[in-house]
Amino acid sequence: MAPLWYKNALFYELPVRAFYDSNGDGHGDLAGVTRKLDYLQALGVDCLWLPPIYPSPLLDGGYDIADYYGIHPDFGTMADFKQLLTEAKRRGLRVIADLVLNHTSASHPWFQAARADRASPYRDYYVWNDTDQRYQAARIIFLDTETSNWAWDQTAGQYYWHRFYSSQPDLNYDNPAVQAEMLNVLKFWLDQGLDGFRCDAVPYLIEREGTNCENLPETHKFIKTVRNFVETHYPDCVLLAEANQWPHDLRPYFGDNDEFHMAFHFPVMPRIFMALGRGDASALIEILKATPAIPPENQWCTFLRNHDELTLEMVTDAERLWMWRRYAPEPRMRLNLGIRRRLAPLLGGDARQLELANALLFALPGTPIFYYGDEIGMGDNIWLPDRDGLRTPFQWDAGPNAGFSSAAPEQLYAPVVAEGPFSYQRVNLAAQLADSQSLWHRLRRLVTVRKAQPVFGCGEYEFLPLAGAQVFGLARRHAGEVVVALHNLTAEPQRVEIDPSQTPCLASWQGASAHDLVAERAAGQLRPTLTQTLGPYSYCWLKLEKDGAGPP
Ligand code: NOJ
Repeated sequence: MAPLWYKNALFYELPVRAFYDSNGDGHGDLAGVTRKLDYLQALGVDCLWLPPIYPSPLLDGGYDIADYYGIHPDFGTMADFKQLLTEAKRRGLRVIADLVLNHTSASHPWFQAARADRASPYRDYYVWNDTDQRYQAARIIFLDTETSNWAWDQTAGQYYWHRFYSSQPDLNYDNPAVQAEMLNVLKFWLDQGLDGFRCDAVPYLIEREGTNCENLPETHKFIKTVRNFVETHYPDCVLLAEANQWPHDLRPYFGDNDEFHMAFHFPVMPRIFMALGRGDASALIEILKATPAIPPENQWCTFLRNHDELTLEMVTDAERLWMWRRYAPEPRMRLNLGIRRRLAPLLGGDARQLELANALLFALPGTPIFYYGDEIGMGDNIWLPDRDGLRTPFQWDAGPNAGFSSAAPEQLYAPVVAEGPFSYQRVNLAAQLADSQSLWHRLRRLVTVRKAQPVFGCGEYEFLPLAGAQVFGLARRHAGEVVVALHNLTAEPQRVEIDPSQTPCLASWQGASAHDLVAERAAGQLRPTLTQTLGPYSYCWLKLEKDGAGPP
């Protein structure tokens, strides 16, 4: 067992359908992922997160599960899944998968039994009511599609509760049988050798009148039960929370290290884009200052993009408007309270900003996660329905179907991005592997540097008191080591002065020399201060060395 392995790691979100099609049927599959494990290892990935791989009508990317104990036939078989785990382990890679606790698909046999018969033991697996007037304080999440969290079911003769699409009825966590079912599901997959779960939509498990039905004490109680079960039987496994909440509501999801090991830091994400777009780190600094400390065993998971719209739920109304105007100028780019675009198009395909955004992400406290394809700057297709345009086939090379599949193009589950600046002819892995200055190689280097410095994964942090907010600067400290990370958010050169007498965690580093970890060069000494000039959208990570010699 490697304690706290998730703290100094790189995670990678890998939607199986989009990655690699091993049998030419037009869908990415588990055997395809296995074939590409060497690639993921070369990138420096430690842990894969597989979004839902279970049987499902796929009305919500698989987050509508019809059978918790199987593999979707498009993705392969249980044998393929086990083979993937075996091959991943052989390479020292871990694999987590989605655990969708809050709801099932309406086509799940539990729901079919529940709606058909009031006397069925499954009726109480879901949340029913004679009117659609309960829990009115709960917000609607899929605002562009749903008008209510209640849907009328003709067969059942009642309304059922759903926080997402009406094709996803919520499970009733007040029913102990539902809680027991979910522990069985968890056990089943951990027994196959999975290394943990990304737990979907955790704030919404329990409903109570007079509340917004999020983050309720009973929800936390169930999560403690889950953690206790995992801790007892699978102590090396990790539970990662998807809770799109403000920092003070996120903090309880760690408990006393008796709920989740990790949680996505949702409020930080849009503020990284605000920092880059405004050339000013103030909002990012403010949200980090508003983030409570977490137990030392726990860890934030930080990200730039994922398979959903870039959510703007955890910003003010004014900030949301600013983000939409800046990053979603066309109405089609907006979805619900967010933006359906990928990282590279959001940043105008600008190589400097793409590298800077990742450097900044890597310098923050937490474990970073890549969204597949962002390591090569893949584009999107906003004209596909829902969030499908963020989930197009991985662009392996400039060959047919971007090297993703040997099927006829019209057989692909989604078209490859074939036009514009992000087309697979221009943006693909093979081309980037061949170019030592490509985004892929630059990010690969960042990954190596970060993982070699435990200050990033495990250390505390302190903001540098710089003259303005155009440069985002922080000192990271762990086990007697310090790295100072500076990021110029603007298109102009910026000069900054680091003054150890003004920064408590640098106080004992007077006279130390600085070594630029990424550029691999000496960067001056703190005598008594150190001045650095950063080019447009550039950054440096300076490791301090007391002997004045710098690392070998
Ligand atoms: C969050 C997932 O990331 C999203 O893709 C899904 O639609 C909802 N939860 C509902 O499961």
